[in-house]
Amino acid sequence: MSALKVLIQAIFFVLLASVATAQEATPQPDRSATGGAQTLEDILARQRGEQIDDSFRRNLTGDPNNAAGLANQLGTLGGASDPDLWRALRYDSANITASNKGQAATVLIQDGGMKWLEFRNGPLKTWGAYLLGGTILFLLLFYLIRGRIKIDYESTGYTVERFKNFERFGHWLLAISFIVLGITGLITLFGRKVIIPLLGKDAFAPIAEASKWVHNNVAWAFIAGLIMIFVMWVWHNLPHRTDIKWLAQAGGIVGKAHPPARKFNAGQKFIFWSCILLGGSISASGIALLFPFELYMFAPTFEKLNAIGLPQLVGLGELPTVLAPHEEMQLATAWHAIVSFVLMAIIIAHIYIGSVGMEGAYDAMGTGHVKEEWARQHHSLWVDEVKPAHDPKPEDGTPAE
Ligand code: HEM
Repeated sequence: MSALKVLIQAIFFVLLASVATAQEATPQPDRSATGGAQTLEDILARQRGEQIDDSFRRNLTGDPNNAAGLANQLGTLGGASDPDLWRALRYDSANITASNKGQAATVLIQDGGMKWLEFRNGPLKTWGAYLLGGTILFLLLFYLIRGRIKIDYESTGYTVERFKNFERFGHWLLAISFIVLGITGLITLFGRKVIIPLLGKDAFAPIAEASKWVHNNVAWAFIAGLIMIFVMWVWHNLPHRTDIKWLAQAGGIVGKAHPPARKFNAGQKFIFWSCILLGGSISASGIALLFPFELYMFAPTFEKLNAIGLPQLVGLGELPTVLAPHEEMQLATAWHAIVSFVLMAIIIAHIYIGSVGMEGAYDAMGTGHVKEEWARQHHSLWVDEVKPAHDPKPEDGTPAE
């Protein structure tokens, strides 16, 4: 229900944004009265979000001596201002020293904040909502068309152990922390647009504060869970030739075939590596955000990418390798959110298949024991490989190990 609301809001904002950008760029105002400096019209146009050509701010145009004198009503500093200094501050060529040491302290003006805000309020929210809403819609349709994947074999009444307790602990540590991080992250991103109109600012303030606190602290549980599953399951997730056959048959998702698989099939390996690589990258950018201006990830990464020629290959040209500390943080928040949206979409599909989508799958993580016929159907090579001892049937009356 809330995802639908987010989707409707996202569509509304796309429409608003397209109306705003469809407006004509304002004609260049006459700046002779300010001696070439910006005018009230420039400022108002910028505040209305209109596109303005602000190249006049970088290179001095006009004659500062023509500016209205400071003593006049609404007079500007005009020729009395120090445009060279302000230009140097804005374009980072001023030699600044600050009593507070650290690179961030000497950045007095940094343009990127506005671009970052516009990206966050525009494409990030819009496409993020589309991605999550689209994934849920797709799974709903898939469920209606394909239905639940059933266990085809006759029941033997036996179960086999699939995951040990510590494996299930690692999984649930990762899963619960990820869900909490996902919800609190979405509250932080969409709160102003979705929760404030519904509940008001007074109610949202404590929710926002609690979300931030929970998000910042639960992150460590996610990182611990990620390390646990990596150590426990990396061996089972290395590529194997059986994966090719599994992929060629699309895992038997369409149709009735059940291609052979070892402990994890190719689809599960995709989930595993998504968690490790995307989850690892979310964790790294998250840590950079927790300790602002201490870890700089992007400039060194861009340097390496430029060296192997990847950005040039996809038409992005050389990526900037000198970034202001604030730009590093802006990139870190944007990256953190984009990668999180992608992983959330993948995990929503995983939750579907691990619960309602496939009969018998949840038991693997619920109790750690699965029906023998489920194991033979979905992981035949694993059953042959480990020849797991049958758990006793409940009616045998023998206590479980
Ligand atoms: C309510 C939420 C979830 C449910 C019901 C669920 C269910 C399951 C089940 C049943 C399995 C075992 C499949 C098998 O026996 O072969 C599994 C495995 C796994 N889960 Fe989850 N899970 C949930 C959330 C998550 C989350 C949030 C993450 C990561 C952020 C995650 C990551 C994994 C990974 C990496 C595996 C091993 C690979 C795989 O089987 O796909 N799970 N999960």
